[in-house]
Amino acid sequence: MESLRGAEELSSAPRLSKISQPTAIEHETVTKDISPVKFSIRNLEAWFGTKRALKGINLDIKTNTITAFIGPSGCGKTTLIRCLNRMHEMTPDASAKGQAILDGIDIYDDKVDPVTIKRRIGMVFQKSNPFPTMSIYDNVAAGLKLNGIRNKELIDDIVKDSLEGAALWDEVKNELNKPGIGLSGGQQQRLCIARALAMQPEVLLMDEPTSALDPIASSKIEELVHRMKRDLTIVIVTHNMQQAARVSDYAAFMYLGELIEFGNTKQIFENPRMELTERYISGKFG
Ligand SMILES: Nc1ncnc2c1ncn2[C@@H]1O[C@H](COP(=O)(O)OP(=O)(O)OP(=O)(O)O)[C@@H](O)[C@H]1O
Ligand SMILES: [Mg+2]
Repeated sequence: MESLRGAEELSSAPRLSKISQPTAIEHETVTKDISPVKFSIRNLEAWFGTKRALKGINLDIKTNTITAFIGPSGCGKTTLIRCLNRMHEMTPDASAKGQAILDGIDIYDDKVDPVTIKRRIGMVFQKSNPFPTMSIYDNVAAGLKLNGIRNKELIDDIVKDSLEGAALWDEVKNELNKPGIGLSGGQQQRLCIARALAMQPEVLLMDEPTSALDPIASSKIEELVHRMKRDLTIVIVTHNMQQAARVSDYAAFMYLGELIEFGNTKQIFENPRMELTERYISGKFG
């Protein structure tokens, strides 16, 4: 296990820095090859009972970049991202081995509190899941209140910042007290992103966040993902190869629980090293 240097930082309250406001999509690529590593995954194995779903994954995720996980159904994409914020072990009989080192600290170290990890590493699911009985405002504020933040002005500010950060504020600012589930599917997904942003995570894991959305709602999420990488490190699972090619800086192709190929997105899509990757991205299977 990695040394626990800095482990106390893991138990700090959410950071309260500003979330960037929307601007036009930027088409520059980040200076990614010199970006520091945010998350270093080493020999990570995941099990469901006696079934091994991840067979020793090694991968570095760089700060302020977008990494896409691609691969056919059942290859382990969801399992891998659930391991990255310690959700995997919440499934009965599920276990994980190996290391996932976030800023030098192994999130699987015994001394690390999984609750703190979930605060630092947010998650957005395939199907939007606003809290059904809560208003738009309360959906975003819920995590803050759970973490003991009581200052109404501070909560108001973070709710506004988060909704702005999720490109939803203008659409909902006059109806914050209406139920979250009254929004459209695309708005609900942005509400779930706002809810995640309110906790000011450092990493955002997104599991097929647009698969239930129409093309216009999907492209809004894609723009948002692109913009959010200024503040966050993002991992996105997608079955949509055009989306992976458009949105990500790095791509990881998985097959049957193994990482087959990882590289910058342009290389993976234009010049894959492995035949299996080439066959998958050209639609020959999966
Ligand atoms: N709760 C579970 N219990 C037992 N096995 C599971 C469970 N969840 C997933 N698995 C198995 O783990 C493997 C990886 O599944 P996972 O859901 O991570 O795949 P995926 O790549 O996300 O697939 P999809 O693209 O269909 O979402 C599969 O063989 C799957 O059957
Ligand atoms: Mg999945």
